[in-house]
Amino acid sequence: MNELVNLAYKALENSYSPYSGIKVGAAVRGKSGKIYLGNNIENSAYGSTICAERVAIFKAVSEGERELTELAVTGNFSEYAYPCGACRQVMSEFMLRQSKIYIAKKNETFLEYVLDDLIPHPFTVNTKGKQK
Ligand code: THU
Repeated sequence: MNELVNLAYKALENSYSPYSGIKVGAAVRGKSGKIYLGNNIENSAYGSTICAERVAIFKAVSEGERELTELAVTGNFSEYAYPCGACRQVMSEFMLRQSKIYIAKKNETFLEYVLDDLIPHPFTVNTKGKQK
């Protein structure tokens, strides 16, 4: 089993999802080798909810890691936990086109993609001014 998938499955234990009951967990590896975990955090104003993948990515970036090499995501449901569009766009900001993304069903089987498969044409118009 893939280490990041196992950690993503562990991360969903902290999911705060009293409204949907859907638990999602994510794990992302920074270029330094350090791993950051995330889980979905819901809100009574539903639109203020944040996905597990963005929590993991923002934790990494807030610790100074801007280059992320691989990410795993999984849920407490028996389907593959494909990331939403907003999370794919955020991944494209901090990951390379060939970075690996592991999409799992619980901590059982997982499918391996690269970011380019998931978001072939991200919004990049402003990236000229991107901070390094
Ligand atoms: N969710 C994620 O955590 N990641 C996704 O990529 C899609 C959806 C969460 C948000 C919400 O708490 C629950 O799943 C149902 O949409």
